[in-house]
Amino acid sequence: MSTHLVTGGCGFVGRNMVQRLFRDPNAHILFIDDLSVGTHPDTWLGQPLAKEIKNLRLYGTEERLIFLKADLRDVLRELNKDPEWFKKHYGIDIVRFDDIFHFAAIVGGRSKIDGDPMLVAQDLSIDAEMFLYVCRNKPGRLLYPSSSAAYPIDLQTESNTLQLKESDIDFSRMGEPDMTYGWSKLTGEFLAKIAASHYGVHVTCIRPFSGYGEDQDLSYPVPAIAARAARKENPFEVWGTGKQGRDFVHIDDVLDLTLLAMDKISDGRAINIGMGKLTSFLELIEVFSGFAGYTPTIKTLLDKPVGVHSRYCDMSWVEENLGWKAKISIEEGMRRVYEAALKKI
Ligand SMILES: NC(=O)c1ccc[n+]([C@@H]2O[C@H](COP(=O)([O-])OP(=O)(O)OC[C@H]3O[C@@H](n4cnc5c(N)ncnc54)[C@H](O)[C@@H]3O)[C@@H](O)[C@H]2O)c1
Repeated sequence: MSTHLVTGGCGFVGRNMVQRLFRDPNAHILFIDDLSVGTHPDTWLGQPLAKEIKNLRLYGTEERLIFLKADLRDVLRELNKDPEWFKKHYGIDIVRFDDIFHFAAIVGGRSKIDGDPMLVAQDLSIDAEMFLYVCRNKPGRLLYPSSSAAYPIDLQTESNTLQLKESDIDFSRMGEPDMTYGWSKLTGEFLAKIAASHYGVHVTCIRPFSGYGEDQDLSYPVPAIAARAARKENPFEVWGTGKQGRDFVHIDDVLDLTLLAMDKISDGRAINIGMGKLTSFLELIEVFSGFAGYTPTIKTLLDKPVGVHSRYCDMSWVEENLGWKAKISIEEGMRRVYEAALKKI
């Protein structure tokens, strides 16, 4: 029997991880989310509510899925004072976690990253509480999701575009990451290394590029463009020139590599998760409008925030050392998102 914690468990990556972990019949999964962005589990968990203990909701016939709506920082402060807080407060036997998947964060896409950077900087306090907790209580393993936003932005310009390698982040020679979001992720990576080297915590860091999937929030470009193509938007609006590009990777591949990396890496090293392929927003629109069977006129919205020009990764370290390659092609993954968008219109 194992007990895992998924923070931010009602967000995009968290929801998918909760469902993936639930496939193991021996796993109990506590997931915590303040629902500031996340969606309530009643809408996606697919398991009946079995019991409520105060504000804790236990789902499924075996009650292996346990949801707590709370600000993670409040819970961690309680646990940092008393590791037996769950047992004493709720009467349930959760004292130590096997795996912690720490997905709680203020993320929110370009409009939030550029539009409210000081809100996003709250990620520093969320991560600080988590790292204190893991160093004091030593869970089996911690997964810390950093981000491609941690990479130096001067390596992602129109005139200087390259495939970002893990070694492009070097704590002894720092480049400037992408806004407060990138700074908080970079700080998290540094804390991960300290947690491993000074406290002996098993930590794995990942730098996902642009993860996407069928159930992603419409504030993200892939599902938003899919939905607009399904409605046959014409002219088709794009932020900026649309020539800016990203490395889109399907959530199922993100989860596969995350779990593999946790088995192989314990020293806080960070790895890329992407396809190693740059796709521009204009190309995305072409793919989705192709599925919809029309050719729209493109309308560029040059006053919208676009972030760096090109962000994509070099996957050779992962391929050579972990023997892993993404399985879901852009065409297949985008087709799945399009089919899901069609059902919603
Ligand atoms: N989706 C991607 O492609 C991607 C790429 C790079 C990094 N990441 C990282 O992966 C993690 C998850 O990303 P996501 O796409 O699922 O984001 P998301 O916004 O969908 O999920 C984050 C969840 O955290 C919750 N949350 C925020 N503050 C909280 C708090 N104080 N207490 C409890 N819950 C809180 C939100 O309600 C939300 O459900 C983040 O750390 C993000 O930086 C994701």
